[in-house]
Amino acid sequence: MKLRYKLFSGLLILASLAIIVLALTISYTSPCNPAPAPATEKTLMQAIDYQCYGSPDVIRQIDSIRPVAKDGEIQIKVHAAAVNPYDWHYLRGSPYIMRLLSGIGSPKDNRLGVDFSGTVTALGPGVKNFKIGDGVIGASSGAFAEYLTMNENRGVVKKPENITFQQAASVPIAAITALQALRDKGQLRAGQKVLINGASGGVGTFAVQIAKAMGAQVSGVCSSRNVEMVKSIGADYVIDYKKENYTTAGKQYDLILDMVGNHSLLANRKAMSSSATLVMVGGPKGNWIAPLIGLLKAPLVSLFVEQNFVELLAEISKEDLNYLAELMAEGKVVPVIDRLYPLAEVADAIRYSETGRARGKIIIEIESG
Ligand SMILES: NC(=O)c1ccc[n+]([C@@H]2O[C@H](COP(=O)([O-])OP(=O)(O)OC[C@H]3O[C@@H](n4cnc5c(N)ncnc54)[C@H](OP(=O)(O)O)[C@@H]3O)[C@@H](O)[C@H]2O)c1
Repeated sequence: MKLRYKLFSGLLILASLAIIVLALTISYTSPCNPAPAPATEKTLMQAIDYQCYGSPDVIRQIDSIRPVAKDGEIQIKVHAAAVNPYDWHYLRGSPYIMRLLSGIGSPKDNRLGVDFSGTVTALGPGVKNFKIGDGVIGASSGAFAEYLTMNENRGVVKKPENITFQQAASVPIAAITALQALRDKGQLRAGQKVLINGASGGVGTFAVQIAKAMGAQVSGVCSSRNVEMVKSIGADYVIDYKKENYTTAGKQYDLILDMVGNHSLLANRKAMSSSATLVMVGGPKGNWIAPLIGLLKAPLVSLFVEQNFVELLAEISKEDLNYLAELMAEGKVVPVIDRLYPLAEVADAIRYSETGRARGKIIIEIESG
């Protein structure tokens, strides 16, 4: 008994030490060095760079090598890019656990930005589906730059003629997240009642319109200043969270899309019909476990109640981008744009995104020199 106790204590001490070492390792932030100078014989472009994790203050606009299209790749001149919370999670390396992928101590990839729209400027060998001059929408690392290259089979599609480059750039992460949350995780059907918590943000403004296009009855939750905007994009009902708490209002929904995570799962349950689903899209900020708690709780709570609590990790998909391009071409989805910033002000755009007060999408306009 004594030996067992000693062994158990020893293992516990070892496990605690391992957790402390892991925590110290993943939370370590290397000092910021300047970006290495690019080779002078190469053609250059302007791009946004970050050499260390930190606030938007660590962002720099630099001369970078203009990428050349390789086998199966297209080169794109970027006209507009969109800011997403994803960008400042990578910038800060937060929550720390993501540094296991993005780089321990400092970022492995020094580029920023994902969502873009632009024009195809060169084709690598073997490209079949694009031609020079095509307008495109896509998602690729390093979108805060004058040029990027990507494989034609990845997340890039042709831009509908009737939408602007700014509108097109706002689509990939936010609209795909909304679509996959409603259609795949939420299994939304026409006639069902859906509540969108965070209806005025990047994901929310797409979710309201996509849910309407799917034939649902839509209730959007936002603050007083955004009530008219959320109505104007098609919400049947708008709940001002400054005046009313949807979890105690006595109304029940078939699906809740939660971009905010400001009510507990059990509180949300009061607003869910017996067969309802809650899709957790976003949640509280934090470097350690705050953003992960909901993700751990959801499958546990689902075991004991009739309703479903599921989390979403959206994935860029060419098919979904094409579907969203069709919805926009038909005028069923019109991106809501809040503010436009030039490339030189990406840091300010990210600071604004971090306030959590964006009204639709924040766009970076990129003019090539
Ligand atoms: N799981 C995934 O794959 C995935 C993908 C994309 C995004 N996300 C996450 O989803 C969340 C939303 O993303 P986003 O791009 O939509 O962010 P966003 O554009 O920054 O959202 C800002 C909006 O949130 C609203 N908001 C803030 N507090 C609120 C509250 N208490 N109740 C209702 N609305 C509130 C704000 O409205 P007011 O100003 O009116 O308060 C603002 O319009 C983020 O946490 C993001 O990290 C997850």
